[in-house]
Amino acid sequence: MQRLYITTPIYYVNDIPHIGHAYTTILADVITRFGKLLGAKTHFMTGTDEHGQKVQQAAQKRGVDPQAHVDEYNTRFKDLWVKLNVEHDHFIRTTDAHHKAYVQQKLQQLWDQGEIYANEYSGWYSVSEERFFSEDELVDGKDPIGGKAVEWLSEKNYFFKMSKYHQRLIDHLEQNPDYILPDFRRNEVLGFLRQPLQDLCISRPKNRLSWGIPLPFDAEYVTYVWFDALLNYASGVEGKSFEGQGEMWPADYHLIGKDILTTHAVYWSTMLMGLGMPLPKHILAHGWWLNGGAKMSKSSGTAINPMPYVDSFGVDAVRYYLMRDMVVGQDSSFTDDSFFRRLNSELANDLGNGLNRVYKLSQSNCEGRIPRISLCEAEEQDLRALCENGIKNALEHIQNMRISQALDETCAIVRGVNRYLEIRAPWKLAKNPEHYPLLATTLGSAAEALRIVFHLLQPVMPTLAVTGIEMLGARFEGKAGLQWKGFDGESPLGAHQVLFPRIEIQKEEKPTAHPLATLDLRVARIAEVSDHPNADSLYVLQVEDGEGKRQVCAGLKKSYAPSELLGRMVVLFANLKPAKLRGEESAGMLLAGDGDENKAVLLEVGEIPLGTRLCLGEHTPVAPTQWTLKEFDKFSFSVQDQKVLCENQVLKFQNLEIKCPVADGRSVH
Ligand code: MSP
Repeated sequence: MQRLYITTPIYYVNDIPHIGHAYTTILADVITRFGKLLGAKTHFMTGTDEHGQKVQQAAQKRGVDPQAHVDEYNTRFKDLWVKLNVEHDHFIRTTDAHHKAYVQQKLQQLWDQGEIYANEYSGWYSVSEERFFSEDELVDGKDPIGGKAVEWLSEKNYFFKMSKYHQRLIDHLEQNPDYILPDFRRNEVLGFLRQPLQDLCISRPKNRLSWGIPLPFDAEYVTYVWFDALLNYASGVEGKSFEGQGEMWPADYHLIGKDILTTHAVYWSTMLMGLGMPLPKHILAHGWWLNGGAKMSKSSGTAINPMPYVDSFGVDAVRYYLMRDMVVGQDSSFTDDSFFRRLNSELANDLGNGLNRVYKLSQSNCEGRIPRISLCEAEEQDLRALCENGIKNALEHIQNMRISQALDETCAIVRGVNRYLEIRAPWKLAKNPEHYPLLATTLGSAAEALRIVFHLLQPVMPTLAVTGIEMLGARFEGKAGLQWKGFDGESPLGAHQVLFPRIEIQKEEKPTAHPLATLDLRVARIAEVSDHPNADSLYVLQVEDGEGKRQVCAGLKKSYAPSELLGRMVVLFANLKPAKLRGEESAGMLLAGDGDENKAVLLEVGEIPLGTRLCLGEHTPVAPTQWTLKEFDKFSFSVQDQKVLCENQVLKFQNLEIKCPVADGRSVH
């Protein structure tokens, strides 16, 4: 990599920046820093898109002049980039005087060349997308992108002869397979180009939209916002060159989200063809950050603000997570869980622990220095080979913008360091002075591998990586630091710091279930009835509970004849601790209300099927735990309007209530 002019899309100035915007910008920053690390000349440009109908409307709504509106709002992006440690070389605004003049100059050129013509145009116009759609592009009569209402408009407009460049664009994509990256996006564009390509409407009548750049050849019109916005990539570097590397234009990389692929791959490419300018080298389309499965965006209410994460866990942690978790090109879901897991496992556990061990053992056993490597056995050779391969693979990934995969290589080195430490066990070697040469070699080798790791991490975590290197008593050396050389044994360790604190995950306290939810009251059937051999008041019942049969002793003799019980559906208290009643096993209890003359009245289950577990009002049943009779007696069950209640909750299954035909206020046992 010798030169790198890299851009992000310019963000709609009305938007509140979220994780999605932060991602693209940090990605550009990381690639730029890698470029610098590898000795390339770099130029990184980002900015804000400040014209168009939505901006005009937002300013009107606030009762301010559009220029005052954008002057205020663009700072939300600028300020965030400072907080995210993004070092762009240029922040362009489409309201910059230079940009406006540039756009007019290019429009005039195209007009003079006959690349632009006027025509009457009718179509479905979407205010929210600020563009026309053809009938068959609509989805359910709404705009196919935002799903908003469209209106039929007919007006004179100016058109850029985009169709003229149709074949040339296909040829360009075919001859330059890496023009659109990743390649499945290139195929998507080629698919789009199989349809006829229309000319592009590049104007808006001023009476509808005044907040735009006027067409130099017709003062009644302003420029279509995308035509204005795309030109930022060239206007921003007009006349600029890399020392010894020629002009900055064309860009080496346009980073964009997949949602704006067509505007870049088709509109922008053909505009450049019309202007006779060279095309960018690569357009790299990344995926979306999702929240709850949907594209994160302000309009859908799913935007996540990166700042609370930065404030709580530090900017480098946020940068690391975003770069590590999204494989460029694919979508990724932003969740607290994945954020915490990633940081705890890869940074706190693996890297943080490895660094701490090496630091502390060197401090206490090697006079506060990382020692020289004096031995080289198979283990040391393996570690060195792992580092050298890791560097090679990571750099190859970086050249191809595969940042997550480059970090994966880096993590593999860290895991290798920890494995090596486990094998050598320097904490044991330290106990015997005879083992000092091996102890020194172990700490020297592990520290060297970590120094390399931090060099690979520096573009992603510019602050912590350098602190890590300095803790080891070394300095950040850029590209020169990316090779195995070993410590000189002289430099004292830097101050100790906890670089990657473990994030204590606040486990969501599972609300402990109400005891009544653990009651297993279920519908059962009496299958057999016999007299208790040793108690006059008791029957011995065989009861089907939906899962099997069990024996229950019940004091129902005074209340029911055996024939009234046989086959009867009842409510069984199934998780009562089994007991022996006068020598007979009893597993559970049948619930009954207090009737007249001290008779028991069994609960009635109506249509509720056998084995169904009942509910007490709002208490959703949880796994049953065994109850004693004493515990059960603490709760009082009583009857009201024939319903069975406990703590004001009605015993039921779904909307079917259990009945007990006794007087109000009577107890249920
Ligand atoms: N102003 C235009 C771009 C003009 S470039 C000449 C625009 N702006 S935008 O603010 O809506 O979005 C710009 C970019 O933000 C997207 O392409 C993408 O790079 C990024 N993202 C916005 N939401 C995103 C996600 N949910 N996930 C990842 N990035 C997304 O379009």
